Amino acid sequence: MAPTTAASLDAVRKPDVKPANPRFSSGPCAKPPTYSLDKLADAALGRSHRAGVGKVKLKAAIETTREILGVPADYRIGIVPASDTGAVEMAMWSLLGARPCTMIAWESFGEGWVSDAVKQLKLDAKVLKADYGHIVDFAEVDFDTDVVFTWNGTTSGVRLPNGDAIPADRAGLTICDATSAAFAQDLPWDKLDVTTFSWQKVMGGEAAHGMLILSPRAVERLESYTPPWPMPKIFRMTKGGKLIEGIFVGETINTPSMLAVEDYLVALDWGKSIGGLPALMARADANAQAIFDFCAARDWIDNLAVDPATRSNTSVCLKFTDPRITDGAAFAKAVAKRLEAEGVALDVGAYRDAPPGLRIWCGATVETADVEAMLPWLDWAFHTEIDALAQAA
Ligand SMILES: Cc1ncc(COP(=O)(O)O)c(C=O)c1O
Repeated sequence: MAPTTAASLDAVRKPDVKPANPRFSSGPCAKPPTYSLDKLADAALGRSHRAGVGKVKLKAAIETTREILGVPADYRIGIVPASDTGAVEMAMWSLLGARPCTMIAWESFGEGWVSDAVKQLKLDAKVLKADYGHIVDFAEVDFDTDVVFTWNGTTSGVRLPNGDAIPADRAGLTICDATSAAFAQDLPWDKLDVTTFSWQKVMGGEAAHGMLILSPRAVERLESYTPPWPMPKIFRMTKGGKLIEGIFVGETINTPSMLAVEDYLVALDWGKSIGGLPALMARADANAQAIFDFCAARDWIDNLAVDPATRSNTSVCLKFTDPRITDGAAFAKAVAKRLEAEGVALDVGAYRDAPPGLRIWCGATVETADVEAMLPWLDWAFHTEIDALAQAA
């Protein structure tokens, strides 16, 4: 049996303080810090969503989203079925096929949209991919084609740093899955024709509904192009060649959950109360920075994102780099299990298709004090597992 080293014995001591909230899941994400179920008491329950009270709430969800995110007045914002997936697929099914298309992916959700385009819609798309930890070079993308991409790759923790490579005078549409970026990262609306997200991510809402934001150019495409494939009712945004404007003032295609709507309104109110988008972004930045600093001071853990400019401030993905680790997947799982068992970090294992490691959500609803209280436990869990490996050898 190998002796436990003095250095590791020291580090292995269990910390005394636990995070007040151990919820670091990448979705559904932690509720806002001031959240309580009592705050949902005003929900329009048991009423038609088409009654006045329901309509007012749905419209408020749309307009407060616009206000916080700074979405231009001439962009439409709709509440649509099936969370972010519903919003992305509704856009793809409704808009693609009119011109050549480029699909970009650098982790598994982006890959899912590639598969939709190539295998389901059977488009002859140009596919640009990068491995986990890397990003596709946007300077090489032809934006005269329609381009589908994910702003923040939730499963690799790699994000697009900005929209500079997207030309303002592009001929194609940009369709952007921004679900783990919205409310935590600056989204350049003039570069995005379709933007989607779910309430369940940075604002800590519920997963029932998706948000679909359309530029005037996207609306123009909807009104001038009819795709060759069948269109399910829940994807239909036009009637007789005209946009169904009602969708974008809260007359949803099918019945929404008014409880989920209320929950989103509570989250939006919290976001506004702390200072809106700059404050929400600053919270995510501070959370992520605490982890970046932790990794920089240790030689056994690193960010999965290779280029620091692409490091996510929401889904921070980490890999263990200690050469003593022989089975990376088993090691990372054991660390995550220990953190969960201690009640200090829940749901922080890497996504099932991603390289082994940890994924720690740092979105705006997470408190920096909780990240800081969790990190000494990561030290402890790592050294405890390393010592267990040494003893088993
Ligand atoms: C980048 C990305 N796209 C899509 C999804 C799917 O979102 P939803 O389950 O809300 O439809 C997720 C969920 O984690 C995601 O991170």
